[in-house]
Amino acid sequence: MGASMAKMVVTDRDGNVHEVEGRIGVKLMETLREYDYGVTAICGGLCSCATCHIFIKPEWMPKLPAPQGDEKELLVELEHYDAPTSRLSCQVDFTEALDGLELKIAQDE
Ligand code: FES
Repeated sequence: MGASMAKMVVTDRDGNVHEVEGRIGVKLMETLREYDYGVTAICGGLCSCATCHIFIKPEWMPKLPAPQGDEKELLVELEHYDAPTSRLSCQVDFTEALDGLELKIAQDE
């Protein structure tokens, strides 16, 4: 495993668990959109579509910066919003500190 990659543990909408390699230094969405079971990310990361919605496993929450303005505004309008674990994966950087990050893909709205 190269220094620029780290692991994510992704639970899909059917409850299947996948271990994937994610690129460090880019948004979580960039990795998750590569999989059929991942996120659609229709707006491409502009924080306007919310089709990149995920749930972070609570244990990992302290390692993530809190959602800011636009992200928060979009999240609270979602039917499946589940504070504080809900995040838009296009607004969260994948860092080395998040190696092993466990998350779940949110249901379609
Ligand atoms: S990709 Fe559209 S809000 Fe994240």
